[in-house]
Amino acid sequence: MVQPIKIAIAAAGLALIASGAGYAYWASRGHTPLLAWQDASIVARGKVLYSEQCASCHGAKGEGQAAAGIAAGPGPLAPPHDGTGHTSEHPDFALIQLTKSGEAGVTCLPLDEKAMPKFEEALSDRQVLDVLSYIKSTWPEEVVAQQEKVNLLYQSHNEAMWNLLDLKRSQ
Ligand code: HEC
Repeated sequence: MVQPIKIAIAAAGLALIASGAGYAYWASRGHTPLLAWQDASIVARGKVLYSEQCASCHGAKGEGQAAAGIAAGPGPLAPPHDGTGHTSEHPDFALIQLTKSGEAGVTCLPLDEKAMPKFEEALSDRQVLDVLSYIKSTWPEEVVAQQEKVNLLYQSHNEAMWNLLDLKRSQ
């Protein structure tokens, strides 16, 4: 006779395998990877853009305006982008929207437009992806893992964003 305890262990094991397989399925199919933080050439392009376009407020190392000792303006301070602040709590699509227009209605209040420039004219969609991919590449592994879970929750938004981006326009 099979003991109930063995059945319970087997069932728990199967559930574990099933949830692991489920996660692997969604992670592989998943959202289109908007931010390619593991792609060395994209990250290298993004790093240059970051120092040209973002570092003057967010700090050379993404440490944020206060930690970088950059004088405060009239609006809020530029937050850190190095994984210690709130930036990494946003899914990829929202980071793109915030950078382009300062708005990501589903996940965040609008940014102060006097303090944070809207980059939708100054940068192409490709450049926005590049600079945000660089920013993501600076986050510690556990912060990336946490943000990837947020990405899974917003998978349909990430996929829709991928379809909306104009990645052919070069600039
Ligand atoms: C002139 C200064 C300035 C520059 C340049 C600037 N930012 Fe910002 N940024 C800010 C400020 C200030 C905030 C916070 C605004 C608020 O809280 O309303 C902010 C907020 C953000 C946020 C939202 C973070 C969060 O936690 O919600 C993102 C994303 C962002 N910036 C990306 C960028 C990127 C990418 C660049 C370069 C392409 C850039 N910023 C350049 C000042 C700047």
